[in-house]
Amino acid sequence: MDGNGRWAQQRNKRRTAGHKAGVEAVREAVSYARKKGIQALTLFAFSSENWQRPKDEISVLMDLFSFVLKSEVKKLNKNDIRLKVIGDISAFDEKLREKIRAAEALTKSNQSLILNIAANYGGRWDIINAAKSLFQKVSSNECSIDDIDEASFSQHISTHGLADLDLLIRTGGDHRISNFLLWQCAYAEFYFTDTLWPDFKEDLFAKAVEDFSLRQRRFGLTGEQIMTQDIEPKAC
Ligand code: IPE
Ligand code: MG
Repeated sequence: MDGNGRWAQQRNKRRTAGHKAGVEAVREAVSYARKKGIQALTLFAFSSENWQRPKDEISVLMDLFSFVLKSEVKKLNKNDIRLKVIGDISAFDEKLREKIRAAEALTKSNQSLILNIAANYGGRWDIINAAKSLFQKVSSNECSIDDIDEASFSQHISTHGLADLDLLIRTGGDHRISNFLLWQCAYAEFYFTDTLWPDFKEDLFAKAVEDFSLRQRRFGLTGEQIMTQDIEPKAC
């Protein structure tokens, strides 16, 4: 979700006004994903690198996160949406952590959409975390080193249990991953748009999905194999 600051600056407002405006785009994205029957939507709300921003911007972002968690959770629950926060939440203050735990607990049985909020998240952190958990299991003889493969590793990644990432959308005009779902991106399709996040409304999300649906995903096979044979392409 990139471009909040620029959206505000273009309107001679403070960057934080862009973050506030971005909340409405979040609502639209969640409602569109729910309506479309998308299994999971992961929103990159705050990266592990975002701590380096000015203190007052971080403080507004934390307050906003806390406020939105509280104000939206009932609606999410009513719409059968499961909320999960992925990232190292130990860095957040106890009040926020409590709100996160409460929202996750309330929505934990919901199945229509998994909404992952990546907060204090980094793709490398995610991979290292998985490596640490597996190392612990090997050290305590719960599994052997030979049991470690892509499938077992995936079980220790923050999005475990979900299918591989299909589509990664980045708004705001930059063409990079910025330490987002690195492990999960292996076979994802990428969609970049210049639209700034607060302007990324339902029709633009639909356009990205439409673009994605027209792509031929080959997963290492040839185009002919995909067209002519009954091969189920598989991400490894
Ligand atoms: C993305 O918008 C929101 C967060 C990282 C929280 P930015 O704040 O990065 O907006 P730009 O890139 O400065 O316009
Ligand atoms: Mg940015």
